[in-house]
Amino acid sequence: MNDMLTIAMSKGRIFEQAMPLLARAGIEAAEDPDKSRKLVLPTSDPQVRLLIIRASDVPTYVEHGAADVGVAGKDVLLEHDGDGLYEPLDLKIARCRLMLAGRAGDTTPLHDHMRIATKYVQTTRRYFAARGLQVETIKLYGSMELAPLMGLADRIVDLVDTGNTLKANGLEATETIAEISSRLIVNKAALKMKSARVKPLLQQLDAIVSADN
Ligand code: ADP
Ligand code: PRP
Ligand code: MG
Repeated sequence: MNDMLTIAMSKGRIFEQAMPLLARAGIEAAEDPDKSRKLVLPTSDPQVRLLIIRASDVPTYVEHGAADVGVAGKDVLLEHDGDGLYEPLDLKIARCRLMLAGRAGDTTPLHDHMRIATKYVQTTRRYFAARGLQVETIKLYGSMELAPLMGLADRIVDLVDTGNTLKANGLEATETIAEISSRLIVNKAALKMKSARVKPLLQQLDAIVSADN
């Protein structure tokens, strides 16, 4: 088992965008996670397997060594606290921005105790604290764009790519909190104990990403 390399990622856009990169490093999924109920997928390399988990759980699996390597969005990494993992490579996939947004035309200045609905509570608090503001965060698990419309919150902090979701809900973004892309993360112990497996993979992926960007 110690020769086995375990890679954690979420299905959906991260799987769809990371697998073409891994394929060029010789790792292809034996099954499509959208068609299978399996959470452990074998690959074309008998010594590599994939774990299919929730995006926000990827750092947890890697930190605890339940996976050696993972692919996680920077948004998820900013929100995750704890050490035990390295973030050695920007894969430059699943790119978007973490932004502050509110109702279109709302010119109310940012102020203390304003209510911000978000999945990214820690990152939001940090961002406002750095500006000397203490905000009231309202934790949501999705569809953040609804909160200002229903009067649940004054603003939201959410991911924006095309801006279509904001626009469709009468919102507009006002500030960028962070540029987001997915990162390859590595368990600290695995980098040492499995360096013969992990380092060549890192080098290959680094070259693949550089060739594309
Ligand atoms: P979830 O079910 O957690 O929303 P997603 O597959 O939508 O899972 O998101 C996984 C990651 O992809 C996010 O953590 C973020 O880094 C990135 N991402 C999310 N939404 C977008 C988007 N609209 N455009 C580009 N990247 C995105
Ligand atoms: C993400 C994100 C935003 C939307 C932004 O949702 O949470 O709602 O994309 O993208 P846009 O600016 O191009 O509209 P996703 O598509 O992942 O749906 P989800 O609610 O299932 O996470
Ligand atoms: Mg999503």
